[in-house]
This record gives sequence, structure tokens and C-alpha cells, in this order.
Amino acid sequence: MKLTYYGHSVFIIEDNNFTGIIDPFIKGNSSCSQSIKDIPKLTHIFVTHGHGDHIGDTVELAKRDDALVVCNAEIGRYLSKQGVKVHTMHIGGRIKLDFGKIKMTPALHGSGIQIGDKTYDGGNPGGFIFYLKNKIIYHAGDTGLSMEMKLLAEENIDIALLPIGGNYTMDIDDAVKAVEFIKPKISIPMHYNTFELIKADPNEFKEKVKNTEVKIINFGDSIEI
Ligand code: NI
Ligand code: MN
Repeated sequence: MKLTYYGHSVFIIEDNNFTGIIDPFIKGNSSCSQSIKDIPKLTHIFVTHGHGDHIGDTVELAKRDDALVVCNAEIGRYLSKQGVKVHTMHIGGRIKLDFGKIKMTPALHGSGIQIGDKTYDGGNPGGFIFYLKNKIIYHAGDTGLSMEMKLLAEENIDIALLPIGGNYTMDIDDAVKAVEFIKPKISIPMHYNTFELIKADPNEFKEKVKNTEVKIINFGDSIEI
């Protein structure tokens, strides 16, 4: 199984018949040197919340690959009007898809969908737990530190993808506390250095996390998981 990081909150998980992208913010993502045509053919797209740096290029990619978009009901309503195939769910919901199970987790954040000068209701922001064949991966979305993360310790998470950039989400010190709450085997920092306001040093996060492995994936790189 392969995990690729395109900077910001963009990850691609590739397993046998499953290629899923999370929060596909490709165009305008200063951390991402790839373009839409570099993105492999997708089976699924997962959207954590409605902000532009997360919905990103969902519509274009979903149409290109006829991929199923998994998101909350409000974002789903907006996306299906764009002619995209969606599966909607909500926080706390756990569903079985052909590649494994997925659960939507809460996030402390906003989710409005901004299109030009119009804002559409994006429902509640969230994150996802992916229960794949051999790995359990948690993508936190954009969130502040929350007590809800203590519940995740019971999910036996192998890999936690956590924002560290601050300002809009947890900063490094709070992300360190999140690792203590979640107790994943491996933590991977995300949502940093794309904008001036979320500048953070992932090595500082790595140094501050005790007793848990931190893997920093360079923008554009893949790791085997
Ligand atoms: Ni956001
Ligand atoms: Mn964001």
C-alpha cells in the first residue's frame, strides 16, 4: 500500500483496486508541484470540509475519473448539483465501501463553501478514519485539539495525519497533545507552509513528539505503508 503526500492536506492512498485522494487541493496549492494530469486515476475522493483548500479540484477530478466523492450531506448537496457522484454521510457514521470501512470524525473548524462572492452551507467539518485491509489511517481534516480525539485511542490507528500549521488549526504544541490522545503508531504532519499564516517546522513537531514515530513526507513523495 502506498501513501503519497502532495502538501497541505492532500494525500493519495493506493491499495489494490483502490486509489483514493483526500482533500484534492492541486491548483493554487503552493506546496504541490503536480498538476491535475499527474494525479493517478481515482476511484474515490474524500472531502473533509467545504473550504477551498480542501474541496479544491474535487469536481474536475471526480468528473475526469467518474470517482465517487465521500463527504457530508451539505457538501454532497452542493457537489451533486455540479454533476458529481456522491456518497454522503455524517459525523459518527461508519460505512462499508468496496475497499474497506470508513468513519467520519468530528473536527473543530468551519466548512462554508465559498464560490466567488457566494457562500454555500458546507455543514459540519470532519475528518476520516480509513479501515483498510492492513492499515487504519486517520486524516484529521482541519481541526483544533479536542477531547474527542481521546476516543480515537480505541480505534488502534496506525497512521495519523495531523495539521500542525496553527492559525486555522492545531499548532505544533497542540498536535503533540493530539498524538498523546490518539496514540497512533505513526504520525505524519500536514497543513503547514502552504501559506504564510501556517508556517511551521515539521522537524520541531518530530522533536516534540515523544514515544511515537513521526514521519515527515516531503511534498510530492510517497511512502510504502
Ligand atoms: Ni479549513
Ligand atoms: Mn485548510
